[in-house]
Amino acid sequence: MIAGRFVEIGLRVFVFLFALHLFCAVLFYFEVSNQVQRFVFSYATQNGSQEELSTTTTIPPDLLLPNEGSTWISSRNNTEPCPEKPSSLVGPVTVKFVKSVKLEEVQAENPNVQLGGHYSPPCVAKDHVALIVPFRHREEHLRQLLHYLHPFLQKQQIDYTIYIVNQFGEKTFNRAKLMNVGYVEALKDFPYDCFIFSDVDLVPMDDRNLYHCYSQPRHFAVAMDKFGFRLPYSGYFGGVSGLSKVQFLKINGFPNNYWGWGGEDDDIYNRITLNGMKVSRPDSNIGRYRMIQHHRDAKNEANPKRFTQISKTRWTMMTDGLNSLKYQLVKKDVYPLYTNITVDIETP
Ligand SMILES: *[C@@H]1O[C@H](CO)[C@@H](O)[C@H](O)[C@H]1NC(C)=O
Ligand SMILES: *[C@@H]1O[C@H](CO)[C@@H](O)[C@H](O)[C@H]1NC(C)=O
Ligand SMILES: *[C@@H]1O[C@H](CO)[C@@H](O)[C@H](O)[C@H]1NC(C)=O
Repeated sequence: MIAGRFVEIGLRVFVFLFALHLFCAVLFYFEVSNQVQRFVFSYATQNGSQEELSTTTTIPPDLLLPNEGSTWISSRNNTEPCPEKPSSLVGPVTVKFVKSVKLEEVQAENPNVQLGGHYSPPCVAKDHVALIVPFRHREEHLRQLLHYLHPFLQKQQIDYTIYIVNQFGEKTFNRAKLMNVGYVEALKDFPYDCFIFSDVDLVPMDDRNLYHCYSQPRHFAVAMDKFGFRLPYSGYFGGVSGLSKVQFLKINGFPNNYWGWGGEDDDIYNRITLNGMKVSRPDSNIGRYRMIQHHRDAKNEANPKRFTQISKTRWTMMTDGLNSLKYQLVKKDVYPLYTNITVDIETP
């Protein structure tokens, strides 16, 4: 009798342990497979894509305006909240990079965009968005981006300002640090509560991909043409992403120590999950993007330390980030279609 009872208990304990074991194995499998996917992706793409589109041209001097008088006309006297889904949205938008774009034309096509690249919709928007673009030597891409993005964001009734964060000098590029600078400098202009970080060469192809902040950190660029309109791996957070101010502060901003191409977006993904948040994404038929083809510039070679660095996020994130950010502001100018922040972020 008693022996039978022991056997039964023993059996239950065994079944429980077995199930626990299985559960851990599955978790481990997903974690490892994500790491492997990341590695394969990061390694295979480190030399960038092939075609060249960009011909470097400088901004015409008549488009450079002084800093004074950058007071924006705020929401046109309207207290009506903007609708959840504006009726002006059409869904897929045509994106082609066939002709080169002139800034004067973009300016003429967007009469409601105010100095510094600011727009307020005729209703009260849910959040105030600083759209931050890390940048260096990609003038043609920038013109294309502005050409598509200004009409796109206005149709979405987003209250936004576009910031270009231009890395001064010719040393190794540091995307994540430039994005941290964009956050800090934007907040000196206005108390934004939402920050969207976009590569200069990524143009959204569906206007239902709403550029505002969500209850969880947002990854917008889920389906890029260059990856066959699929997410390259489940933990991918590159291209275009957005965090509310609260979410950004929770992860101590982005890392400052990723010099060169790759890894920083994986570090940001780690920061988000390690702090108990989850990445949210649009549907892959909405989060579609076209990338402007180009050579990766020579000063943006792959970061050889990236794999070691992303394995240590847990221990580095609270000391490397917004609370350790150091830079020299070189220049900040408001232009008709964007605010140009040039910054010296020093060297590794
Ligand atoms: C990337 O380029 C380097 C040097 O040009 C080369 O040695 C390496 O094999 C290339 N890697 C890939 C994955 O194409
Ligand atoms: C703003 O609203 C006030 C009162 O509701 C009105 O008197 C004024 O004309 C409005 N201004 C504009 C620019 O619409
Ligand atoms: C931004 O400003 C810097 C410094 O004035 C200038 O050299 C650069 O060409 C500007 N970049 C853009 C994209 O406007």
